[in-house]
Amino acid sequence: MPTLVLGIESSCDETGVALVRTPDGAGLPALLAHALHTQAAMHADYGGVVPELASRDHIRRLLPLTNQVLAQAGQALEAIDLIAYTRGPGLAGALLVGAGVACALGAALGRPVLGVHHLEGHLLSPFLSSDPPEFPFVALLVSGGHTQLMRVDGVGRYALLGETIDDAAGEAFDKSAKLLGLGYPGGPALARLAAFGDPEAYKLPRPLLRSGDLDFSFAGLKTAVLTQARKFEGAPCEQQRADLAASTQAAIVEVLVKKSLKALEATGLQRLVVAGGVGANQALREQLDAACARRGVRVHYPEPHLCTDNGAMIAMAAAMRVQAGMAAARTDYGFDVRPRWPLDSLAA
Ligand code: KG4
Ligand code: ZN
Repeated sequence: MPTLVLGIESSCDETGVALVRTPDGAGLPALLAHALHTQAAMHADYGGVVPELASRDHIRRLLPLTNQVLAQAGQALEAIDLIAYTRGPGLAGALLVGAGVACALGAALGRPVLGVHHLEGHLLSPFLSSDPPEFPFVALLVSGGHTQLMRVDGVGRYALLGETIDDAAGEAFDKSAKLLGLGYPGGPALARLAAFGDPEAYKLPRPLLRSGDLDFSFAGLKTAVLTQARKFEGAPCEQQRADLAASTQAAIVEVLVKKSLKALEATGLQRLVVAGGVGANQALREQLDAACARRGVRVHYPEPHLCTDNGAMIAMAAAMRVQAGMAAARTDYGFDVRPRWPLDSLAA
């Protein structure tokens, strides 16, 4: 029996809603419709996400976006079989909005609800692409809050290989962008400026590159960017800013590429999946593609518009759990959220 899953994402500053349907029989679930509202412009004035404003905006957006995806997919609310929401990790207040709406809809419709791990959503989002991966694979999860390498043997079978000991790669992009006077979110802005710069103009550190393990550290990078920025006499010219942006991006990308290759070597796997917002970065994609092609490794990405937070990945993770017989859906509508929630603690 096909299952129609509504997915709700509200862990940070994007409100995402989507409808995914499992097929009749074997095969991957299909995305029927998705809608997204990004709060970036609202938070830009503050230079980062303001949790209280984020929560209030999710409240305003969720039901209109739900109506939008139902209309797009030509489905009635009553046709939904399962309502999935992001249970964590993320901002507690923002998560509670999605959980509350999901449980209220579930109770009203008499349908089960399922709390999904946000990073599992990112991890499984490449299965929505036109070139979906197969298990097992190494996953490089690079978002605003997380930088992890995982060994993935199937749905719910995640083993942590290494992670950042301080800042995430996305945070390194965002903080360096701020130092360069770029707006929020900094990652895409820094990447745009980097396109005009020389990645070898400034020598920036590649922390833990030769540490022998699969951990990352990006906190020192922003200090190095700041130190370099202070060396400019007066305000930097456009070319200096572009060169520093390109050098920063090159430092982050080199570490991510080399550690991913190391993880492939350590596991002996021939497949890499890249997920999370930083996975949209073009320089990262180009360098990973080139390095992996030389080693005969296949690389899979989510569609670019599904790299950053969205509801489709939450609906997809729930649908794949349903297919795997692992969806511990609830019908008591007692919900909780897990602002901190390690991905490798998910039971297989
Ligand atoms: O996965 P995501 O949407 O949210 C979290 O779960 O954190 O990732 C957001 C992060 C931000 O740090 C943002 O600056 C970064 O992804 N990002 C990028 C690019 N697009 C988004 N970083 C570098 N290059 C990009 N093109
Ligand atoms: Zn995310």
